[in-house]
Amino acid sequence: MERTVKVTFKNLALTIATTLALAPALVAGPAMAAESEGKIENIDFPFDGIFGAYDRNQLQRGLQVYTEVCAACHGLKYVPLRTLHDEGGPALPEDQVRAYAEQFEIFDPELDDTRPRKPTDPFPSSGLEGAPDLSLMAKARAGFHGPYGLGINQLTKGIGGAEYIAALLQGYTGEEKEEAGVTLYENKVFPGGWIAMAPPLAGDDVTFADGSANTLRGEAIDVAAFLRWTAEPHQNGRKHVGFLAVLFLGLLAVLLYLTNKKIWAPFKSRRAKH
Ligand code: HEC
Repeated sequence: MERTVKVTFKNLALTIATTLALAPALVAGPAMAAESEGKIENIDFPFDGIFGAYDRNQLQRGLQVYTEVCAACHGLKYVPLRTLHDEGGPALPEDQVRAYAEQFEIFDPELDDTRPRKPTDPFPSSGLEGAPDLSLMAKARAGFHGPYGLGINQLTKGIGGAEYIAALLQGYTGEEKEEAGVTLYENKVFPGGWIAMAPPLAGDDVTFADGSANTLRGEAIDVAAFLRWTAEPHQNGRKHVGFLAVLFLGLLAVLLYLTNKKIWAPFKSRRAKH
C-alpha cells in the first residue's frame, strides 16, 4: 500500500516537473514567431512578475511626463489626486500633492465658481474632445495577442497594456495625411495604422530631476508605467496578499496530508498484513 502511494506521488511530481519544463517551450516557441511580425516588444517593467512592485521614481517621472505633455489633451478623471501620496504609488509627500492639485481648477457648484483643486478632487477630464481619458487605458488595451490570436503570451507576459502605450508613443513613421479636414499620423502600432494624435513625444520633452534619460524611449516607458499604475493602483498589495494566501494554502495542504495519513494509519497497516 505504502508503495503504491509513493509511486503515485512520484508520478504526480514527474508530471508537474515535465509540464513546468515544457510550458515555456510551448509558450515561447510560437510566441517568438508571432512577435516578429508584431511590433510590440515585451518590456521588463519593475511591476512584472510575482514579486514585482511599482518603482516609485519611475512613477514620479511618468507623472511628470503626463503632466507636462499628455495632460494638455488627456484627462485622468477616475484617479483621485490624493492617491499620488499612496505607498506603492508615486508616494509624493502630502504638501507636494496639495501643491500639485492646486494647479488644476475645478467648478464647485457650492461656490458657483471655479476654485483650485484639493487632494480630495480627481484629476481633470480630457481637455481635448476626441482625446480619450487615460485612467484605465493600460487595462483597456492589450499588447500581446499571440500566438495565433490565442493570447497565450498573456499568461507569461501580462496583457501588455503598458507595452502597447510605450510602443504607440514610439510607433510614428513621420508620414501624415489629411482626411475630411483631420490630420492623421501614420503609426505602426495603432490599429488601422493612422491615428489622430500628433506624435506627443520626441525625446528631450521633459527634464527629470533624478537625471534619468529623457530619450523618447525612456519617457515613453516611464509614462506607460505611470498609466499602468493609474489603471491598477493596488497591484502591490494584491500580490502581497496573493503570495501569503499561496503560502498558507501550501502549509494547510501539508497539514491535511499528514492528518489524513495519521487518521488512516491503523486501518492501512491492518490491511497490509492480510
Ligand atoms: C495634442 C493633443 C494630445 C496630446 C498632447 C497627447 N495625446 Fe494622446 N491622443 C490624442 C487624441 C486626439 C487621441 C485619439 C486618437 C485617435 O483615436 O485617432 C489620442 C489617443 C491616445 C491613446 C489611445 C490610443 C488607442 O489605442 O486608442 C493613448 C494611449 C494616448 N493618446 C496616450 C498619450 C500619452 C501617453 C500622451 C503623453 C505622452 C499623449 N497621448 C499626448 C491627443 C493627444
